Amino acid sequence: MSIGPVGEEVDVAIVGAGLAGLTAAMDLVDAGLTVRVLEARDRVGGRTWNHDLGDGKVVEIGGQWVGPTQDHVLALARSLGVDTHPTYDEGRRILHIGGRRVAYAGMTPHINPIGLLDVATAMASLARLSKRVPLDAPWDARGARRLDSQTLASWAGRHVHTHMGRMTVELFAQSVMACEPNEVSLLHFLFYVRSAGGFRYLTDVVGGAQQDRFIGGSQELSLRMAATLTSKLGADAVRLSSPVLRIEHDGDRVHVFGRDAVVTARRVIVAVPPMLAGRIDYDPPLPSLRDQLTQKAPMGSVIKALAIYDEPFWRRDGFSGQAAGDVGAVRATFDNCTPDGDPGILLGFIEAENARRLSRMAPAERRDEVLDCFVRYFGPKAARPVDYIEQDWTAEQWTRGCYGAHFAPGVWTSYGKALRVPVGRIHWAGTETSPVWSGYMDGAVRSGERAAAEVLHGERLTEPGLQPA
Ligand code: FDA
Repeated sequence: MSIGPVGEEVDVAIVGAGLAGLTAAMDLVDAGLTVRVLEARDRVGGRTWNHDLGDGKVVEIGGQWVGPTQDHVLALARSLGVDTHPTYDEGRRILHIGGRRVAYAGMTPHINPIGLLDVATAMASLARLSKRVPLDAPWDARGARRLDSQTLASWAGRHVHTHMGRMTVELFAQSVMACEPNEVSLLHFLFYVRSAGGFRYLTDVVGGAQQDRFIGGSQELSLRMAATLTSKLGADAVRLSSPVLRIEHDGDRVHVFGRDAVVTARRVIVAVPPMLAGRIDYDPPLPSLRDQLTQKAPMGSVIKALAIYDEPFWRRDGFSGQAAGDVGAVRATFDNCTPDGDPGILLGFIEAENARRLSRMAPAERRDEVLDCFVRYFGPKAARPVDYIEQDWTAEQWTRGCYGAHFAPGVWTSYGKALRVPVGRIHWAGTETSPVWSGYMDGAVRSGERAAAEVLHGERLTEPGLQPA
């Protein structure tokens, strides 16, 4: 093994300045350790990213909502002095299904009782099955092999019988995991539902994951953590534009190679999505189970589109801004205004196959298709925004898709054990590694805390077959 030039030396090197990496860094610094965070982008925050609207206002083009039971990210926000504001949730919702547009109050449209019964029965079965999944070890679920030998689509093919039922399953996979039902293992889907505490927590606005947003935007958490770290350790504590390309690890040190810097440390926390962790070069190479896991952890496909209007006209028309539908690229929308409601901002998610289709279009053509969807939901006023913003996360070199990773059949049961277990002095963080609120900002924070605790308690490798070569 060749160890390259050694630069600075700290206790712990951290790869990635998203919520996970920065949370880990804060905990380690609080415990008296020195850290260096190496971040590939020229900014912190990773999958959280504020877009400047001018006049001191921002809107998020990455992750944004928080809700009940997301206690760790909420506690972090409180400690950083970042408050929340409620998501706008007044007025009727819109469902566009089978060529028909229905406006309704409450959670459920009063149409198609047979379809609604189909949906309720399917949700109840999935909720029951999800209770079998131990969050720390999904591979130990009762019947894990069988659950992990089918996709959500193949399960739905047997248990869902109506157009409304099929649309709901599709919408669920697309809007929560940014993949199609035929891309994801049933076991992974059940894990994801349980990880959030149940369907209600995943889908609801009030009482669910879409309930609140951070004042100043979600990236503010990372910006404040980075500012705290640099005030304590100096300007170099978080080094931007420093992609980590290679990690050499031996008996008692790691050497973390950025583009033009080497950090030597006692341990390293790799706080990036598993697929990107797999693109780093390791010497000695990672155990095959861990490497193969990273080969099988694809990211979802999302384009987030925001149309800006002089005012939120849908509010005056009696609508909440929340719509869902079965045609066009945008299958779900939300009111995404700043707390004062000025300007009006409609948010549309383009997910899974639609994201792949639209990412190949010319920008003007893509914008037209998004606005056509907004018009279908909210009428002709939606056709003329004063501005239009979009962010294609599949095109981001240091994310390559969102909201997070999903597992196809066979991955949890064959490779799942390698998700979190440290490899020698290399520890893994990032929302994907969290048993609770996996895929969410809260999961990212929890994973950073867990990885920092592993380092502080000197946790060593326990899983057979996952030793460094
Ligand atoms: P994250 O990916 O944020 O951080 C990893 C960091 O590592 C990045 O900064 C990256 O640049 C860097 N990096 C990668 N490779 C590197 C290398 N080789 N060397 C150095 N640095 C490297 N969540 C939620 O709770 N509520 C929500 O409403 C949403 N909605 C949502 C919408 C959209 C469009 C997106 C994209 C995401 C969401 N999410 C969300 C998900 C949420 O944003 C996400 O779970 C967390 O921000 C993930 O934080 P991590 O720190 O785990 O990874």
